[in-house]
Amino acid sequence: MKNEIKVILDTVRTLNKKKEIWSYLTSIEYMVKSKLYVDSIYYDASKVAQHISGKSYKVLDFGTGSGIFAIILRNLNKNAKICAIDTYHDKSQKDPNFKDTSSEQKLIWNEFNKVFKIDFTHYDELSIPFPDNTFDIITAYAVIEHIEPRELDKILNELKRVLKKDGLFFVFKTPRKLAYAERLAGLMRLGCHDILYGDLEVKSIFLKHHFDILSNWKSNMVFEFPGIITNLFYPILKPLDSLLYYSPFRIFAHHNNFVLRKHF
Ligand SMILES: C[S@@+](CC[C@H](N)C(=O)[O-])C[C@H]1O[C@@H](n2cnc3c(N)ncnc32)[C@H](O)[C@@H]1O
Repeated sequence: MKNEIKVILDTVRTLNKKKEIWSYLTSIEYMVKSKLYVDSIYYDASKVAQHISGKSYKVLDFGTGSGIFAIILRNLNKNAKICAIDTYHDKSQKDPNFKDTSSEQKLIWNEFNKVFKIDFTHYDELSIPFPDNTFDIITAYAVIEHIEPRELDKILNELKRVLKKDGLFFVFKTPRKLAYAERLAGLMRLGCHDILYGDLEVKSIFLKHHFDILSNWKSNMVFEFPGIITNLFYPILKPLDSLLYYSPFRIFAHHNNFVLRKHF
């Protein structure tokens, strides 16, 4: 297990006072235990790292959650200055067991800041607390679909404001309307997203905000969760994911991913 994943798991386990119930910290442990999930997050972070390649860039991880993506980015990019923000109140989260999310985040962020030197902050969803043109790169990992569509324009304007001209905006893991995994999870009453985006629909949102779409790819052909099951079948699921990706079945891939550029 990579050292940063071990630090995340140890911190979450130590600070989780409600181990027995399904809480925010328990959910982080649940996710990080899936080998396929951890593989995909490293793969995605390496795409961002290629663009940083040792430069002292300023990077914002937007909707950082536990901070896992920011932490992996930090370890791939020692010279980058990494900031991470999340909302005080995630309106997409309806489960009452998650009502303490922001205080639980503060607990773990405090520890992660000491080890990984990342500035974590909450914000009010109105204004992102940084001056104009601050960041070279912004990342949003599995975030866009958690924002109410009527608020998305305002938030994209804010993200654009704090991104430098020609800065890059990486949007990872936006669930697709055609994703078979979402349909199946919905039928089985497992966690699924309320908001799904069609391929053209999500592209048109970015184009409306005058982002150039530098690249767009689909990902995640097989289920990553629950890790307790997917880890057992990891040696089969891992190559199967690649096999299906290069087959016509890709039309049912779970996610869309984008590299966008602010051109003015
Ligand atoms: C599925 S989680 C992903 C968290 C993290 N990026 C990761 O990959 O582990 C979605 C995140 O979006 C955040 N979020 C929801 N609405 C938001 C908003 N308006 N502004 C910023 N973040 C938001 C949630 O609080 C949550 O942390």
